[in-house]
Amino acid sequence: MKLNGTAILHDNARNKSTAFTRRERDADGLVGLLPPAVETLDTQVARCLMQLGKKPNDLERYIFLSQLADDNQTLFFKVLSTDPTRFTPIVYDPTVGTACLEFGHIYRRPNGIYLSIEQRGQVKQVLSHWPAKDVRFICVSTGGRILGLGDLGANGMGIPIGKLQLYTACAAVPPKCLLPLLLDCGTDNEKLLADPLYLGLKRKRPSSADLDSFVEEFVQAVQELYPKCCLHFEDWKGTDALRLLAKYGDKISCYNDDIQGTGSVAVAGFYSALKLVKGQLKDQRLLFFGAGSAAIGMADMTVAAMKLEGVSEADARARISLFDVNGLIEPSRTDLNSDQKRYVHPHAPTKNLLDAVNTIKPTILIGVSTVGKTFTKEVVEAMTKLNPRPVIFALSNPTEHAECTAEEAYTWSGGKAVFAAGVQFDPVNLGGKTYLPGQANNFYIFPAVSLAVYATEAKRVPNELFIEAAKAMADQVTPQELEQGMLFPPQKDILKIEIQTAIAVARKIFDLNLACVKEPADISAWIQSLLYKPEYSPEQN
Ligand code: NAI
Repeated sequence: MKLNGTAILHDNARNKSTAFTRRERDADGLVGLLPPAVETLDTQVARCLMQLGKKPNDLERYIFLSQLADDNQTLFFKVLSTDPTRFTPIVYDPTVGTACLEFGHIYRRPNGIYLSIEQRGQVKQVLSHWPAKDVRFICVSTGGRILGLGDLGANGMGIPIGKLQLYTACAAVPPKCLLPLLLDCGTDNEKLLADPLYLGLKRKRPSSADLDSFVEEFVQAVQELYPKCCLHFEDWKGTDALRLLAKYGDKISCYNDDIQGTGSVAVAGFYSALKLVKGQLKDQRLLFFGAGSAAIGMADMTVAAMKLEGVSEADARARISLFDVNGLIEPSRTDLNSDQKRYVHPHAPTKNLLDAVNTIKPTILIGVSTVGKTFTKEVVEAMTKLNPRPVIFALSNPTEHAECTAEEAYTWSGGKAVFAAGVQFDPVNLGGKTYLPGQANNFYIFPAVSLAVYATEAKRVPNELFIEAAKAMADQVTPQELEQGMLFPPQKDILKIEIQTAIAVARKIFDLNLACVKEPADISAWIQSLLYKPEYSPEQN
């Protein structure tokens, strides 16, 4: 449809703001609606960076960038591309966590679709209100478990928005095919229910059966309206996440980043660590501190990766132990869910992590407990006594939830720990050496997998694709970077790295016969040709 004047300025995909040329201004009724200067995209970027520099904190920067995204998509992604290391923690974790806590308070305008459980029976109609017809990804959350922050109900919408922005910022997936969606099923968060500015449905969450029937209607509607669409489940309550992935994972194009993406980034970290430790994954013993959806996702992905190295499923599982709020997962436990039961191994009951470390003798210890300061000096020292290079991942976030800090891991292990965290810690100087701790952030994986799925129109997104992504990611860490403690490639190169990873994943999709498009002769050149570029084009007018 031909837009004119203010309608163009209000269309964030077409708005060039002060970069509209004189000819474009004449042709589209923009004369007088803009100040006289005709600027380049680079000048606009410089102004944004200057304005961002004056903001007092990251939440204010988040608000500024959200408005920019609503106003001028090209400029938004161009600004992000100037410094991904600086901006990904603002549009996503950790700032997005603060933004979700404050969502109803900082709200400016809608973005994406809010689908409420009270709209059951009309889901397809509500979905059809979205203007784009070729939706290729829906990132969908119930807000049931936002980052480490618990049930945030409709405030969780910040997550699908931010995740999809990373598809484009980190892997150049075209934004026009991305739809953030909040399945509003109420919230059990009393503080939000009592907040007059809360924007979601003011009711308690439904039973699992009710939720599942709502999700089924939603899934059917998506299949009918957007047959090429991949569903990205994000930040659901752990049990819902696992149940729904088990239900839909091998039936439709879908994935759960909290489970599969998390599993993959952990396995990528293990592959990198093993280059230093010098061993194979199948020979490691892993102890997960925390047995929730992240631990299960990582453990299951590790089992799948071990199997590719030739061991049986039972032998792979036997090498992995879990420890949760009630202690080690062992045969006397009566409170385990079916996912945890897969990791029950003979052991005396214990609620003491140090005991578990000393008897299980893990080569790799992973913290996904949501509880900070739980990898004590004694635990790190025990790991160091047991292993020449103990692999210690303290993945809980935000920062104050990390099981230990980078500095603690390096100091208590005398510089021997191969360490990664869920947050970005500053470099650590110890004994004249500078360590650069890695951040096991899911953004290393899910945008790349999504770019490959986008290109190939993959009909399923199985674990093999996430293991392929993990390998491709680990292979891009240079020996020099590994030596400094980096287990993941530098964030500043994120776009280049993810495109490379996506090429490997796309190859795997063709190998597994999951693609719905014909395999091109040159996969690399073909992927490059599909990438979104944050540049204004004369064709926009
Ligand atoms: P969850 O709530 O599903 O599971 C938490 C688990 O920790 C439960 O098994 C619970 O019993 C256990 N736990 C709680 N207190 C404990 C204690 N004092 N001692 C031992 N275990 C305890 O949470 P989910 O989704 O599994 O996430 C866990 C953490 O991992 C979060 O902080 C999250 O931010 C982080 N995470 C990090 C990722 C990354 O670095 N890439 C990816 C996904 C999650």
